[in-house]
Amino acid sequence: MQQPRAILITGASSGIGRALALAYAAPGLHLTLLGRNSERLAEVKAAAEARGATVSAIPVDVRDRVAMHGAVLAADSPHPIDLVIANAGITTGLADTAVSEDPEAVRALLATNLFGVLNTIEPLIGPMCTRGRGQIAVIGSLAGLRGLPFSPAYSASKAAVHAYAESLRGRLERRGVLVSLVVAGFVKTPLNDSIDAVKPFEVSDVQAATIIKNGLARGRAVIAFPMALYLATRLARILPPRFVDRLFTRFSVNVPETQERVKS
Ligand SMILES: NC(=O)c1ccc[n+]([C@@H]2O[C@H](COP(=O)([O-])OP(=O)(O)OC[C@H]3O[C@@H](n4cnc5c(N)ncnc54)[C@H](OP(=O)(O)O)[C@@H]3O)[C@@H](O)[C@H]2O)c1
Repeated sequence: MQQPRAILITGASSGIGRALALAYAAPGLHLTLLGRNSERLAEVKAAAEARGATVSAIPVDVRDRVAMHGAVLAADSPHPIDLVIANAGITTGLADTAVSEDPEAVRALLATNLFGVLNTIEPLIGPMCTRGRGQIAVIGSLAGLRGLPFSPAYSASKAAVHAYAESLRGRLERRGVLVSLVVAGFVKTPLNDSIDAVKPFEVSDVQAATIIKNGLARGRAVIAFPMALYLATRLARILPPRFVDRLFTRFSVNVPETQERVKS
């Protein structure tokens, strides 16, 4: 595959998105970095420029469909996007003995993790198909493979984007547009730090970015890591459901409720 010359990344102000921006940053590349926190975004922009890339940093909320449509198309016009990485996301779950998630937190999460992904990708599908080239990457999660009893809405949001990426892949590849789904395990980031649990095979954000970048360069349909947890979670899908439920509930996991809320 050709090296991408223009990449758009959402959630580039922190964690995996930030590490991806720096992993790709090099002379000859234009990066469009999206996030909400202007200060952290400016820090990533400066670090990427120091590596030789040209960078546009755009503070925007992925939940805002109109703003995202404008921002994505404004980025695509001077530097046609070769690779878009829909990465921005949040988590929420059931802390301690809670049995139900706050409906407002759930809606904020779905607005970010599901509609935010659609708002990122939709504006580029037409232009990429017209050009007959491009690559779309969706950052999913092991939680998208099998619902986790500690984070129902998060699992649902990731299952939804997994299905979306898979569906797009079958439809767009004949138009020259590749679609890759990233199924990530535990990556040490601020999002992950908020979760109180044993985190087997946890990798750094830099390691995650390297794995994702290599997988995207090979045009992989699915980029899953760590392989052992990925295979175990896939196995969990074919084992008796109640047996797997009991297995999961043996682990002590605390996923705090997000403070994010949908603006009225
Ligand atoms: N870390 C893990 O263990 C892990 C595992 C599997 C999958 N993932 C997925 O990886 C992706 C990145 O997570 P991370 O671990 O790197 O988390 P992170 O360090 O908390 O970064 C999340 C990024 O998403 C952005 N974001 C959140 N809400 C946004 C909104 N409404 N509008 C625009 N940007 C928004 C944040 O930007 P601002 O702070 O500027 O708003 C930030 O740049 C997520 O989709 C997550 O579900 C992570």
